[in-house]
This record gives sequence, structure tokens and C-alpha cells, in this order.
Amino acid sequence: MLYKFLKPAAFHLDSEQAHNLAISGLERSGQCRASRAVIASLYGLEDPSLAQTLWGLSFPNPLGMAAGFDKNARVIPALAALGFGFVEIGTVTPRPQPGNPRPRIFRLPDDQAIINRMGFPNEGADAVAVRLARLDKRPGKPAIPLGINLGKNKDTSLEDAAQDYIAAFEKLFPYGDYCVINVSSPNTPGLRLLQGADYLGALMAQVQVANQRLAAQYRRQPLPCLLKIAPDLAAEDLEAIGALALGASIDGLIATNTTLGRDGLVCAVNEAGGLSGAPLRTRSTEVIRTLYRIVGKQVPIVGVGGIGNGQDAYDKLRAGASLVQVYTAFIYQGPVIARDIKAQLLQLLRRDGFENVAAAVGVDVY
Ligand SMILES: Cc1cc2nc3c(=O)[nH]c(=O)nc-3n(C[C@H](O)[C@H](O)[C@H](O)COP(=O)(O)O)c2cc1C
Repeated sequence: MLYKFLKPAAFHLDSEQAHNLAISGLERSGQCRASRAVIASLYGLEDPSLAQTLWGLSFPNPLGMAAGFDKNARVIPALAALGFGFVEIGTVTPRPQPGNPRPRIFRLPDDQAIINRMGFPNEGADAVAVRLARLDKRPGKPAIPLGINLGKNKDTSLEDAAQDYIAAFEKLFPYGDYCVINVSSPNTPGLRLLQGADYLGALMAQVQVANQRLAAQYRRQPLPCLLKIAPDLAAEDLEAIGALALGASIDGLIATNTTLGRDGLVCAVNEAGGLSGAPLRTRSTEVIRTLYRIVGKQVPIVGVGGIGNGQDAYDKLRAGASLVQVYTAFIYQGPVIARDIKAQLLQLLRRDGFENVAAAVGVDVY
């Protein structure tokens, strides 16, 4: 309700200014136990049939906040109170970097879409580790899984990229429940070349060696290491990635990041960057379906791209995603989105006679 009144004002601001204001507001409200409880009472909705265990982690529901929204890990408690079943922070690079010049986020309201060319602005792995360490010590630490999305700095060459992912991983390992190797942002020059099967195999193998070493150092299990891919990959690339994932080094796949495509847009916004939101929905679901045909349930898939309601989330689950994430629709619909999507998803599961979320995963594929 409040968002209905605030949204017109927020949409008059520059997109990034509006985002920063939202992050500050969520950060403040997430710091106080009473306000978290109020938010949870307004927006919370849990049901045992939405819960799942994947990689040994308990997800209270399948809807997560996608990477890029909380780049510096400032609003995890607020997002948990809003009813998200998991949160992925980042992309975090080893060293802080400012990202591309502003403006770099563009709204396309008639398309329910966004174009961004942020270029991984973030405070760097050291600063994010300090914030996560503080959160770890707080009594109100959210009980939902936390994903750590990792990237390389812009000025690191592609040959040295693995060192960057590992450097950031080393700093953030103690605080994450899963990690994501992001090779699919269109806004870091050359990054997507890392999706080539040869390079990817070597990169993921090196990440897993670091994972084993860190697990021994911190006396805990290695983290599940997921790979986040672009929607613009050709069928052969998806085949190669799927095959690689069936080997030992990829524990999960996140499909997809933003697209360089511009098909079907109503708004005449001619900006460079990655397109997200409704126009991405069909393609990302196709990518999920293609991957699921290859990896089945052996390698869990996180579906993301254009989800705006329960039906969209349900379609991705039925195409093979075990979990789903949103970002762009949160900008357009506001904080009520997690509750609404979960309520609609529950209705759809019941309508079709599925006992729980897991039972619906991949049913459209075979
Ligand atoms: C402004 C903006 C910034 C983003 N930053 C990141 C990022 O840092 N790392 C990443 O892996 N994905 C990033 N994404 C991509 C989202 O995580 C997601 O994959 C994509 O937007 C598709 O989901 P959506 O249609 O629900 O937005 C960003 C998206 C947007 C709109």
C-alpha cells in the first residue's frame, strides 16, 4: 500500500538514486527487531509445502532475491522479513570498484523491464566481509540461505580471472551458504568469454580446489558452487555447460543473467547494457528447460529472468528450476512481491495437485 504512494515519487528520481534510497530504507528497517517483526507480519507468508532442502540447505520457500539488488550485503535482514526464501548478495569483486559512469540504469515501464550497465560497482570483498561478520554476530541473523555472487575486477585480465574469483571467495567463504561464479554479466568487457567450455572447466576446477582448501581451513563443508550463465548462449554452449555440470565441478546453475537482445520492446530506449524483466521471461525459461533436459535433478537449477507473478515462477519450476529469483519486478511492484508470488504459487500447486514445490520441478520437460 505504502509503495503505491511512494512509487510515483521514486519513479521521478533517477533510477539509481531511487535504488539507493530504497536500500537505505530497507537497511534501517532491517536493523530493528520490532520493525522486522512488523514487516514480517505484513508481508510474511510461509507454508511447509513451499519448503525444500537443496545441497543440504533448508530453503523455507523457493523465491530468492537475485544478485545485483543487494550488492554490498546491506539489506539481508529486511529481505528475509519481506519473505524471500534466500538472498544472493553481490556481485562482489576482490577489490572495490566504482563501476561504469552514471546514468547506468534505465527503466522501461511499458515493457516492465530495465536496462543496466552497472559494471559491478561494489565496496569490494574486504568491506563486504566485515559487514557479513557483523551480521553473523547479531542475534536476529536471518535463518535463510545466503548466496555470495563473485566477479572479477574490470582491470583484471581474462587470463588472471580465476585468481580474482578465488581471492573474493577466500574473503567471503566463512559467511556464505553457497557461492556463485558470475561469468555472464554483459557489462564487464570480455567476461562472457569465460563461458566457453574450455575456460569454464579450468575455472570451476580451480574454484573447487580453493573450496576444498577453505573448507579444511574453516572446518566446515565446502560450499555448493553455482555458475550463473547468460540467456544469449547458443544451444551448443548450453550443451557444453550442461555436460560440464554433470562432472564434479559445478553444483548448480543459475539461468539467467540479463540479455543483450532487444526483441519485443515497446519503449524506444536505445541504451547499451543488459535487459531484464518481462521481455527476458520466455528466453530464460527456454534456457532452463534446455539445461534440465541435460542435467535433470542431478544439478539443481535456479531460474531467474522476467518473473513478475506466481504463474511466471511456476512456469520456471515446471521447466526444471528448483528455485527462482526476482529483481526487476521488485522495482515495479515493490515489497509485496514475495508474498504475492508465494500465495499465487501455492494456489497453482494446489490446483494441479502437487503436494509440494519439489513435486512440480521439471514436470513440463518429459
Ligand atoms: C540493475 C541490475 C543490476 C544487476 N546486477 C547484477 C550483478 O551484480 N550480478 C549478477 O549476477 N546479476 C545482476 N543482475 C541480474 C539479475 O540478478 C537477474 O539475473 C536479471 O535481472 C534477470 O532477472 P529479473 O528479470 O527478475 O530482473 C542485475 C540486474 C539488474 C536489473
